[in-house]
Amino acid sequence: MVVPQFKLMTIERHILEQQGRHPEATGRLTNLLYDLALAAKLIARETTRAGIANILGATGDENPHGEIQQKLDVYADQVIFRMNDHTGRVCVMASEEHDELLAIPAHHSPGYYVLIYDPLDGSSNIDVNTSIGTIFAIHRKLTPGDGHGTLADVLQPGSKLVAAAYVIYGSSTMLVYSTGNGVHGFTLDPSVGEFLLSHANIRIPSGGDHYSVNHGYQHAWTEGIARYVRWLQGLDEEKRPPLSQRYVGSLVADFHRTLLRGGVFLYPGTEAKPGGKLRLTYEAQPLAFIAAQAGGYASDGLGDILDIQPSALHQRVPFFVGERELVEKAEWFLREYDHAYLEQYARLRGS
Ligand code: AHG
Ligand code: MN
Ligand code: MN
Repeated sequence: MVVPQFKLMTIERHILEQQGRHPEATGRLTNLLYDLALAAKLIARETTRAGIANILGATGDENPHGEIQQKLDVYADQVIFRMNDHTGRVCVMASEEHDELLAIPAHHSPGYYVLIYDPLDGSSNIDVNTSIGTIFAIHRKLTPGDGHGTLADVLQPGSKLVAAAYVIYGSSTMLVYSTGNGVHGFTLDPSVGEFLLSHANIRIPSGGDHYSVNHGYQHAWTEGIARYVRWLQGLDEEKRPPLSQRYVGSLVADFHRTLLRGGVFLYPGTEAKPGGKLRLTYEAQPLAFIAAQAGGYASDGLGDILDIQPSALHQRVPFFVGERELVEKAEWFLREYDHAYLEQYARLRGS
């Protein structure tokens, strides 16, 4: 288990040290990660005083998915966009809260990176004071030239990610990031406004105690998923040691526990919704990148999330993430019992 140790290492210094390992590093990624850490501090400030600052509740508007936007969704979305629209580090952005790409304003020069984000993950938990989060994915610009980014720059496989990070606003605010050299966690000390290294080189432990799924959808599970969950519970003929169940309903919180304690999180697809609920580009890909960097594995049931070539910005994928052995077992149950479903999903996924 990763025991937090508070070395006086700020996230800024850590990012610089990480980039120092790449002689060709120009500092642009370092500065982009700084900017995201600052955005996280601003969002954290609002979440910790949401009840007071009249920032609770819904806006009355809907996002591209027909979901009611919470005030904090909009606040977080705007903070992240405004933090990055003028720095010259980013050539295009994409957000869960916007149907289309977010162009860099004409009077600012576009940069070299692509920023895709879920500004506020777990929105349904905001008003009941349960952990919520923010998720970031960073790609290099693919298309030639130094102009504005395009959809082709955004729709890249997760294996091409340059960096991924998430923030969890919980009993403390943590920022966890990877630039491909391991996974590192920082805890915000609000008294000085600094993220301090608390979890260096996080590795997903094996033998975790929990599985995490919303049992409210049990009626809709495919046979393979139903059998997989019974296997996790030690109820099938193999009688493996039973795992206990945790489900927060905020992906970032359920993922963070799985990253630190092991086990498995799953949000499977169903016959009615073969792609499930979670989005590939700003939820599954960045968390799969982090999981892989921590020795774990993430799958859509057919194979590695990081190998999927996205076909649409808000594309949904089934999501299984955690200890490799447990995720691969889910793939096995799907192959063994859910041929028709897998064919239906493979057609939907297209790649
Ligand atoms: P978001 O708030 O960004 O839309 O994400 C919500 C997601 C994710 O955080 C969580 O794992 C999932 O919704 C929970 O869905 P159910 O309530 O259907 O279990
Ligand atoms: Mn989300
Ligand atoms: Mn969200």
